Parts: sequence; C-alpha cells; structure tokens
Amino acid sequence: MPHTHHPIGVFDSGIGGLTVAHAISRLLPNEQIIYFGDTAHLPYGDKSKDLIKRYSLEITDFLLHQKRCKCIVIACNTASAAAYEYLRDTHKGNVPIFNVIDPIIESVVADDSIRHVGIIATKTTILSGVYQEKLSRRKPGLKYSALPTPLLAPMIEEGFYNNNISQTVIHNYLEQPELEDIDALILGCTHYVMIKKEINDFYKGKVKLFDSTDIVATKLKDILEKEHLLSENQVGKNLFYVSDYTESFEQSAKAFYGESLALEQQKISSSK
Ligand code: DGL
Repeated sequence: MPHTHHPIGVFDSGIGGLTVAHAISRLLPNEQIIYFGDTAHLPYGDKSKDLIKRYSLEITDFLLHQKRCKCIVIACNTASAAAYEYLRDTHKGNVPIFNVIDPIIESVVADDSIRHVGIIATKTTILSGVYQEKLSRRKPGLKYSALPTPLLAPMIEEGFYNNNISQTVIHNYLEQPELEDIDALILGCTHYVMIKKEINDFYKGKVKLFDSTDIVATKLKDILEKEHLLSENQVGKNLFYVSDYTESFEQSAKAFYGESLALEQQKISSSK
C-alpha cells in the first residue's frame, strides 16, 4: 500500500524528465524523488510503441517494487503517449500514475485566447496522434498543427542548448510552414524545456508556450492531497538512477540538483 513517506517515482529516457522532477521538488519540497533516466535506450522518440511499453513497465516495476514509490510520474511525452494506458491498467488501483500530456491538454483547452496551437514533439509522440486526438475531442473548433522534431531531444541530451548549433536547429524547425500563424505552442517533449528560452526568443515572446513542468507538479499535488498521500515532513534525499552512465546526464542533473547529487547505475533487464 502506498504511504505518505514513500517516494515519488519519476522517469524519462534521459535528462528531459529532470525538468519535471525539479518542478515537483520546488512545489513539494518535503517529497523524496526517485528518478530513473533510461539512458541505455534513449532516444525513445524513434522507438516503437511496443518497445517503449516494455521499457516503461520494467522501470515502473523497479520504482514500485524495489523503491516502494507511492506514485509514478511518466515525465516523458513519448512514454506517456505510448505506455500510459498500459501502465495504468497494469497497476490498476495500486498507485496513482501520472502522464505529462493530459495536464497540458487541460491548460490549452482552458485558454480561450488560443485559435491555432502548434505541437512539437518526437516522432513517436506525433505519430501516436494522442495530442491531436485529445485536442480535437476536448475542443473541436481549435485549430492545431503537429510537427515532429526528432533532432531536438538527442541534441539536448548531448548538451547542445543555448549555443549556435541549437539555435540553427531550432530555427529550422520553427520556420516550417506547419507552424505558421500559431498563437500557442505545446513543447510536447520534456527535453524541450531546456530550450524554452531559445524558442521564446525565436517568437519574441508573442507565442504562448506550454510545457509539462509546473502544470504537472500542480496536478500531482492536487491528486496526492486528495488521496492523503502528501508527505508532512522532509523524508529523504532524492536519488537518481540511470540505465547507462553518461557524463551529460550527470552534468545536467547536477545543474538542477547541485553538486552533492547521488547518481547510480541500475540496469533494467532489457539493458543487461
Ligand atoms: N523526453 C522525452 C519526451 O518527453 C523523450 C525524448 C526521447 O527520448 O526521444 O518525449
């Protein structure tokens, strides 16, 4: 049974989910986070749904059974698109499982100033059609345009952001005709939070940007409160696991969480 002092499990293919984990730590400083970056298998964005489901299930098993997490945050749009329903049905009734897509959809459809929203995300997320389907179901009149941007997550994972290379790649994507005339843009990959400033600069602040940091953290807080699962006291140090050690992961994690960060390697069976 989940308990208030148990940790929150958060996972992504790599560093992207750290943006979500960090937003959770800011909003809920008493909570302990156990983070898993599946660096052995990134990028998820060019993998099949079945493979992502398998990786996600193994990570979730590790977080729930070995680390006794009280809930799971899928801090990855690709895994949310490919595996959320599967994970939710597999763990039905045991622990709350959160995806990063629904809170973004809720915020976008609640904003009546938006007429045309763009979506940038990995190939797997765009091809899944999850964003498109949810937007058109929730707000039939809303115009949307989706563009796969497969170079962005690997570029960011390698540490290329806020430099000339990232600027060239970002501009190239944002200049595509699909994104003409948008007044809002969904950053449909948790990695893209790291380039949010560059995207905002491109649009000179004139396009509203939606990402899965604070809105996911707020959603998590609401649900944990309702389920009486919020921790009242500080419970422990955050722990970070990767399926394959990479220096860029360690650097990015330290940039978010400070030098004393504890990073461990944990194989999941498909990376053994
Ligand atoms: N950060 C992930 C997402 O939100 C996945 C990036 C990748 O591994 O391709 O989609």
